[in-house]
Amino acid sequence: MNIHSYEKIWLVVAILLIVGFISTVTYGATAVGIDMVDDEGGTVNASALDEDPRFSEPRVEQVGDNEYEAYVIAQQYIFNPDPIRVPANSTVTFFITSPDVIHGFEIVGTNANTMVIPGQVAKITVNFNDPGEYGIVCHEYCGSGHHTMEGSVVVQP
Ligand code: CUA
Repeated sequence: MNIHSYEKIWLVVAILLIVGFISTVTYGATAVGIDMVDDEGGTVNASALDEDPRFSEPRVEQVGDNEYEAYVIAQQYIFNPDPIRVPANSTVTFFITSPDVIHGFEIVGTNANTMVIPGQVAKITVNFNDPGEYGIVCHEYCGSGHHTMEGSVVVQP
């Protein structure tokens, strides 16, 4: 009698542990996904960027006194527009997407760094205080021309 009761208790404990482990793993995977890709910018139809109001004309738009939005397409093997021109002492929010494969978008020497995934819009905000030219590199292997894929941000005085 006693043995059967203990078996039941341990069976319940084992099931609770399994459920607990599964929910931990699921929660962990979700958190990792959010860390890896900044997809706050939403989604977009990767095969119809020319019909999208944000990406049909890649550009920089002024949206406030010192605030700008840059709509950037990363594709094999260029960034468009290139160069991205903004004034000094400005805050620029980049919206970046890709029509073909996964690319990277890193402004050299800064912590501005994101993956660019077809169908998703990566969003990062950067303050540009000093005039100068800042390189952009693709840091995800995207094909034979990957090593040549670069652009620049020109911060004008
Ligand atoms: Cu694009 Cu590497």
